[in-house]
Amino acid sequence: MSNVKTVLVTGGCGFIGARFVRHLLQHTDYRAVNLDKLTYAGDLERLRDVHSDARYQLVSGDIGDRQLVQQLFEHERPWAVVNFAAESHVDRSILDPGLFLQTNVIGTQVLLEAARTCRVDRFVQVSTDEVYGDTEGREPSLEDSPLRASSPYSASKAAADLLCLAYRRTYDMPVLIVRSSNNYGSFQFPEKLIPLIIRNSLKRQELPVYGDGGQRRDWLHVDDSTRGFLDVLRAGRPGEIYNMGTGSLRTNIEIVREICALLARRAGLDLDGLLSHIRYVDDRPGHDRCYEMNTRKIRKELGWTPEVTLDDGLEMTVQWYVDHQHWLEHVVSVDYQAYYDAVYARTWQQKQS
Ligand code: NAD
Ligand code: TYD
Repeated sequence: MSNVKTVLVTGGCGFIGARFVRHLLQHTDYRAVNLDKLTYAGDLERLRDVHSDARYQLVSGDIGDRQLVQQLFEHERPWAVVNFAAESHVDRSILDPGLFLQTNVIGTQVLLEAARTCRVDRFVQVSTDEVYGDTEGREPSLEDSPLRASSPYSASKAAADLLCLAYRRTYDMPVLIVRSSNNYGSFQFPEKLIPLIIRNSLKRQELPVYGDGGQRRDWLHVDDSTRGFLDVLRAGRPGEIYNMGTGSLRTNIEIVREICALLARRAGLDLDGLLSHIRYVDDRPGHDRCYEMNTRKIRKELGWTPEVTLDDGLEMTVQWYVDHQHWLEHVVSVDYQAYYDAVYARTWQQKQS
């Protein structure tokens, strides 16, 4: 085992991190050490098939815990870090910004410091298109476009990116940043648009659409994004930022209607009944209308390209949730209803559709 490289993956029990851990174990001979705090968003089920793998190890803990992180680095001597751990949901950041600063900013700095003292060879920071802010009426963001974060979530991710770049410049650390567009796929927590709309449809509940539903997002299948993260880990150039997305955008209302149509086809639900549950609710405060990135760099330098079309990806995703409704109910059992009420019932009053 001694010559095997260890990759410290943080947040590996989350939606994207878990997919990445599985991909890493399948497609490389690296070891994966997964540091995860197991918040409401972390779920061991996502990694059920790898828990017995000799190259995998789970460490339960907080990336902001300096002592634990330093000891872990000294013990594992990782070759690389891929930092997925974060508070990841914009609406929760509006309810509780402080938690986002603690995990996304301080947590990243704690990891950077341990990585610096233990001289890791690569530090991949998982970032988001949201750091560029609203691109409505602007050219698609390039990697050196200004950061104009709008929400506490995106501000915390932008701050983490800046810390990574500061560690690069000041300490010559081998930091790489990937700014990904919206991911979707199986095992995503149903606070995000796609699984939330699927779950509410399956439960014959209302389908909340913020504002006029004309906001546009670039939806990237999680299998495509995990390939991209591995490409950057292996072949990205230290100090560089890589935008990652499909370049093809859809409005939220288009996505919601498409999900309804798929559920009618795949689960035999009544399409008119589903569509009649769409509710245009008060907009999310500070809501960005559009995130659009220029993704030429990752395609040209690393040969990465998305392979799953949105039509195929949405169909697979809807079918997966239809077949795994027990998983949905298992993950919402903790504080989900209180969260849902805070966002949808109390804070944002319903409008007539
Ligand atoms: P997620 O919310 O599903 O999972 C986050 C994981 O991090 C969970 O397992 C959670 O337990 C863990 N975690 C949270 N706080 C922690 C802490 N203090 N210490 C250790 N572990 C902690 O998130 P996701 O959707 O998989 O996103 C992963 C990363 O990708 C995040 O950094 C997010 O900002 C970024 N990102 C996500 C998207 C998206 O569409 N989901 C798009 C672009 C970028
Ligand atoms: P989300 O999945 O929360 O991702 P992000 O905010 O990171 O882009 O939301 C995707 C889009 O869907 C965003 O424009 C907000 C919108 N949205 C709704 O209209 N209704 C909802 O209930 C949710 C959760 C999101």
